[in-house]
Amino acid sequence: MTLYRATFLHTPANPFQFAQALQIEDDGGLLVQNGQIIQSGSFADVRAAFPDEPVEDLRGGLLLPGFIDTHVHFPQVRVIGGLGLPLLEWLDTITLPEEAKFGDDAYAAAVAREFVAGLTSNGTTTALVFGSHFASAVDILFQESSRVGLRAVAGQVVSDRMLRSELHTTPQRAYEEGKALIGRWHGQGRNLYAVTPRFSLSASEGILDACAALMAEFPGVRFTSHINENGREIETVRELFPESRDYLDTYERAGLITRRSVLAHSVHPTDRELGAMAEHRCTAAHCPCSNSALGSGMFPLKRHLAAGVHVSLGTDVGGGTGFSMLKEGLQAHFMQQLMGLEGVPLSPAHLLYLATRAGAEALQLEDQIGDFSAGKNFDAVYFCPPEGSIMKTVLAHATSTERALASVFAGGTQGDVAQVWIGGDSVYRRASS
Ligand code: GUN
Ligand code: ZN
Repeated sequence: MTLYRATFLHTPANPFQFAQALQIEDDGGLLVQNGQIIQSGSFADVRAAFPDEPVEDLRGGLLLPGFIDTHVHFPQVRVIGGLGLPLLEWLDTITLPEEAKFGDDAYAAAVAREFVAGLTSNGTTTALVFGSHFASAVDILFQESSRVGLRAVAGQVVSDRMLRSELHTTPQRAYEEGKALIGRWHGQGRNLYAVTPRFSLSASEGILDACAALMAEFPGVRFTSHINENGREIETVRELFPESRDYLDTYERAGLITRRSVLAHSVHPTDRELGAMAEHRCTAAHCPCSNSALGSGMFPLKRHLAAGVHVSLGTDVGGGTGFSMLKEGLQAHFMQQLMGLEGVPLSPAHLLYLATRAGAEALQLEDQIGDFSAGKNFDAVYFCPPEGSIMKTVLAHATSTERALASVFAGGTQGDVAQVWIGGDSVYRRASS
């Protein structure tokens, strides 16, 4: 057992619904046994209950629940930051040529190491991952997440039209390879499987039906795809699915929209789509850096919340700008500010919730991860800026812990992440700390 002593913050409740959702322990204690939090509270209280356990002193920074990135692409690490192109041009000229390289296992293995290290070194402990179109590259990704101990919810990306021939499969093969991958990886260690058609633009009805067959056969697997990201994409989907009422309906008709579904972007939804998303209790993964970089648009958070749609946060590497969930929180804040009356003012509590607990809820893992309540796994990120950095100065002079949290989102980077734990295991430690 270890007693962690730290200033910790978490959001066991949803700040979009409850006023006092941000819980702060300025001198907190978390008693961890076998990776699980046994007691959570003030250091004095936990110490009194466990007077003899060894203490790990993490004072001087902030301890936060591990970040949960609900939209990130494994094969796009090396093309992060291709600024200036709209979605379909960016896919054709930058991204799909890169993804075609993942038929080479050695290439996939090298990027898998970069990808998982990119997540953990930024404090991300759970990720909903778009894998590769190549099944063997998905095996390689799961091997690496297992080696490191990341919680990966990932799947083979499937498409059968309009990309490039190397990335196309058939409904039968998508079903068979998906089934085999589920058998090998779903529920193995910390891994879970997510059925992942790329988007309706690159999916025939046949392949969506193959995805639905997997979802029906394996009730524990999750589902993810893209939706309503870009005007030209939406127009093309409309032409490809003349029978469908809208973009959501292309998935809905196949039976793919449920509580297990996470749909990335949702920048341009209709009111009908929002109502149906709320009814099916699926999640919209908001990716503000990507929406800015690809010029996709301003995420209508207010409309999602008004309709009752659950919203989480994702980096969308490599349409996004990197693995930092702090940066996503900041960009979400910026964009809502710029939307004026159409925007939702986001407090530090909202940002922390979106980066942590909201993702756990999206993945139906909120009984296991997402906050520091007793019974949860000890998935944590210790944010402690290096000596001499401006962030160190800012934290030292913060007038409250809540203001410090705002500053962490405003200016925090990978270099400020001192240590990261998943299920009590230390998975990352900054070299100099
Ligand atoms: N839509 C289909 N594929 C992609 C992708 O790789 N990134 C983003 N942002 N949108 C997509
Ligand atoms: Zn994406």
